[in-house]
Amino acid sequence: MRSEEYTNFIFDNCDTVELAKTFGTPLYVMSEDRIKSKCRDIRENFLNKYPNTRAAYASKAFTTMAMCKIIEREGLGLDVVSGGELYTAIRADFPMERIIFHGNNKSYEEIALGVTHDIGRFVVDNIYELELLEEIAAEQNKKVKILFRITPGVEGSAHKYINTGQEDSKFGIPLDEKIIEYVVKKAMDSSNIILKGFHFHIGSQLFDSNLNILAINVTVNLMKSLKEKFGFITEELNIGGGFGIRYTDEDDETKPISFHTDPVMQAVKDECAGAGLDMPIIIIEPGRWIVGEAGITLYTLGAIKEIPNVRTYISVDGGLPDNPRPALYEAKYEAIVANKANEKPEKVVTIAGKCCESGDILIWDLKVPQIESGDILAVFNTGAYNYSMSSNYNRLPRPAVVLINEGNAELIVERENYDHLLEREIVPSRLGKAQSISCDVALTRLE
Ligand code: LLP
Repeated sequence: MRSEEYTNFIFDNCDTVELAKTFGTPLYVMSEDRIKSKCRDIRENFLNKYPNTRAAYASKAFTTMAMCKIIEREGLGLDVVSGGELYTAIRADFPMERIIFHGNNKSYEEIALGVTHDIGRFVVDNIYELELLEEIAAEQNKKVKILFRITPGVEGSAHKYINTGQEDSKFGIPLDEKIIEYVVKKAMDSSNIILKGFHFHIGSQLFDSNLNILAINVTVNLMKSLKEKFGFITEELNIGGGFGIRYTDEDDETKPISFHTDPVMQAVKDECAGAGLDMPIIIIEPGRWIVGEAGITLYTLGAIKEIPNVRTYISVDGGLPDNPRPALYEAKYEAIVANKANEKPEKVVTIAGKCCESGDILIWDLKVPQIESGDILAVFNTGAYNYSMSSNYNRLPRPAVVLINEGNAELIVERENYDHLLEREIVPSRLGKAQSISCDVALTRLE
């Protein structure tokens, strides 16, 4: 980084102010290098360190066809959770045997898409899905490989909306003896289903391994009892994702992969040895940890509202529709004024989004230098669950996404325009005619 020469914020050799000029704002900027370096850590310190391990990227955190290509080249698998995510992978020519299909209410069409394309694993969440999958596999005359998602009864430590492993959860099969034994037996007896093992996911933004270790203890007990009762051998155990990243100084530092995986591997080894079981293949599914810190969002500052002795609000040209996380989870972010990166902070302001919602505040109490409308704000660590959770609320077109790589920036998702917002709308003729002009024409007429 050449920060002495530049007053602009440089992100992975790209001048962010230039990016804002070239591509407009709001703009999602993703660094290929940062994504790859996380994948490299997984390869070197998990996959290569431990035999019989796999890693799949949880594409719900951020997915596009270009992202699928990066993940494919990095040698990871892909966790998808809907027909849309699966279709993105199919169109990106992602190797289907590396796909893991999640979801607590997969539709007939979604399951059929997965069966048709011979995806690697279905993670079956409930009895209803098992029956549907069996029926579709039989229709297509296929044998599908599955894991059962179980609810280990362990509570995550993050916001309650991102904890999933607790007993009272919509996800997974409860570890009630009758229920779990019923589904395992049913899968074992099916001629179209091959049961390979189990999956759990405790929750997101985890900074210690204790919860995963508790869940491993519960799962190994289950594995032991199923072996004793039915002779069932668990070949695979998928422990989900959830590894945390640092958003602000209040969070722990982002830890290397080994911080999360070493204790888990040790626990599986010890527990299995204690139970007289062979070690299963261990699979991890990080999403946020891979892409969270690889992304920033650029905004242009607009209206400045000073309320004497109260606070100063500065509004940006995006907000809740491109980053709903502060409103949903009270998530916190750090940011920098990108065109004044070397200037000392002098005041504290609140960064507001432009939506008609009082809750649309991106950052409370951000320290900034002297600022004015037109300045560019770079919000850090927006790579995960921002673009993928974006909406058109207030009919705001979604921002573009650029991928930066060795100082070059390329569009991987075009900015939406007003016509995209209306693309699938129909006005019934009895209500009158719609204008047939495009937004380009409408905009020039307005000028
Ligand atoms: N595997 C499964 C089965 C999951 O449900 C999830 C996340 C992951 C892996 C990846 O978790 P990660 O490594 O990204 O934490 N929208 C929320 C996060 C929801 C996560 C849902 N499941 C947020 O913005 O914080």
